[in-house]
Amino acid sequence: MKSKQPPELPKKIPTHVAIIMDGNGRWAKQRGLPRLAGHRAGTENLRRVIGACIEFGIQYLTIYAFSTENWGRPEDEVLGLMKIVEDVVDRELQELHDQGVQLRHIGRLDQLRPSLREKVLRAVEKTQNNTRLVLNVAFNYGGRDEIVCAIQHILCEGVKPEDVNEALVSRYLFTAGTPDPDLIIRTSGELRGSNFLIWQGAYSEWYFPATYWPDFDKEELRRALFEFNRRDRRYGLVNTKGKGQEGPGSNVCQ
Ligand code: FPP
Repeated sequence: MKSKQPPELPKKIPTHVAIIMDGNGRWAKQRGLPRLAGHRAGTENLRRVIGACIEFGIQYLTIYAFSTENWGRPEDEVLGLMKIVEDVVDRELQELHDQGVQLRHIGRLDQLRPSLREKVLRAVEKTQNNTRLVLNVAFNYGGRDEIVCAIQHILCEGVKPEDVNEALVSRYLFTAGTPDPDLIIRTSGELRGSNFLIWQGAYSEWYFPATYWPDFDKEELRRALFEFNRRDRRYGLVNTKGKGQEGPGSNVCQ
């Protein structure tokens, strides 16, 4: 009798996977290379993981590429990361477009140098009608900053307090229109959220592989999906039948 092959993919594929691509620096250090070599290897890996996401049928991928706190890194690393992203847009935009990837940016664009800002805007515009994979690039992004920004906009528009609810706040976030992440992966063994999708990740499943980002390959992603399938998502309830329900009472904070 033939032995049964394990399924190539688990039953449930998360709609939205988000990744904190951590460990580039340590990957480089292990090899006696400068940190930027780690970021370049991480960038190469990103291309492979995007391909795997498309193959696995994931619809949204959000990556943490540069946080609002990363400005505090040594100047050569900050400038190097900016250059890597500019080069990627120059080099890879057409291929991403051909693959059906829709690029979106989350974070603040205003503090970026004009050449990078323009390239990001051009990439977003060029790919806006693609539907195979939405790739949110969190660049100059911070979860707290995103919420501050949302509050500022809500106040500026004169929204009445009683009209403020979770759905409305979500519409003012950088991620408006993107479903909350089902699965958040942080590579390199660090067990922190680091200001990433702090609103959207309220009910995400977290997964922390020890692998450094440049080595997190398709098989690692597949393992993450199998692990996701072992989780029992209860959304604060006691079974898996339904999603969280709105609590009773007034919508206005006292
Ligand atoms: C964290 O590793 C990684 C980053 C802060 C940068 C990630 C950016 C890329 C992979 C560039 C690609 C992005 C795009 C959009 C093309 P770390 O430096 O904190 O590693 P360490 O903890 O080992 O020092």
